[in-house]
Amino acid sequence: MKVRRAVVTLSLIELIIAINLARLSNGELQVGFYRGKCGFADVEITVASVVTTWFLRDPTIVAALIRLQFHDCFVNGCDASIIDGCFSEKTAAPNLSLRGYDVIDDAKAAVDRVCPGVVPCADLIIIAARDAVFLSVGERYEVQTGRRDGLISLAQNVLIPGPSISVSQAIPFFVNKGLSPIDMVVLLGAHSVGVAHCSIIRDSLYNFRNTGMPDLTMEPFLADQLRFRCPPNTTTVDSTVNLDQNPFPFLDYYMQILSNRGILPIDQELAMHPLS
Ligand code: HEM
Repeated sequence: MKVRRAVVTLSLIELIIAINLARLSNGELQVGFYRGKCGFADVEITVASVVTTWFLRDPTIVAALIRLQFHDCFVNGCDASIIDGCFSEKTAAPNLSLRGYDVIDDAKAAVDRVCPGVVPCADLIIIAARDAVFLSVGERYEVQTGRRDGLISLAQNVLIPGPSISVSQAIPFFVNKGLSPIDMVVLLGAHSVGVAHCSIIRDSLYNFRNTGMPDLTMEPFLADQLRFRCPPNTTTVDSTVNLDQNPFPFLDYYMQILSNRGILPIDQELAMHPLS
């Protein structure tokens, strides 16, 4: 459990640091950017109270907000371009199963009530993900703020690794963002929380790489459990399975994949990949 906590926290810190680097160079971002800019109102406390309300209702928002942050930051930096409407990044295939938009909408409404028009959604996504991680695992990290919302959000700009991508194919996506293969491994530790839809893992269970066979590297008992949850025939309901299928609470994501119990194809392959 302890290791898992560290993994999730580290993943986020890594993501934030890496994607903030470009912005840091011109000195825009800082911890506590809104201190003194909103009278007596404390922006971060306002966001925390919104996230807490959501978390108490639905603890799975932790995974939703972590993934939302990744998908926002990976395209043109952390500029809230994921939030926009028609034809925007939100409508691109890798983003269709993103969740957590309502949390950001509520946070925006709450901060605008106490400090109208000052705090952009770009910062709210970062603060909300941090608060959700804190509520979930009790570890808090500081975040830098002072971003501006982007002006461009186009589905065609979304270059995010797809669900069936291999490790070798995924590495260049991260390298292009200045992240090493090891950074990618750390970030993938975020798959310690949240869910995947059956539609995403069905090929691994029944027709791995068009062989007509399951992925035989997957631990057989887990594969049976997943097949029970995700039958071969697509139904109208696309059920979900937990990314954490760990029967032992002291084992983390990395131990899980080393035991051939990865859920997503990328996770299942990661443990066997030389990374070079
Ligand atoms: C090669 C890179 C990656 C691939 C191919 C990938 C792919 C996926 C897929 C296919 C899902 C399941 C989506 C669904 O069925 O709804 C998922 C879920 C998730 N991913 Fe990733 N991902 C990658 C990297 C990351 C990174 C870097 C993070 C965060 C730092 C992240 C965080 C998450 C989280 C938290 C979930 C669960 C979301 C939820 O419960 O709503 N992923 N990912």
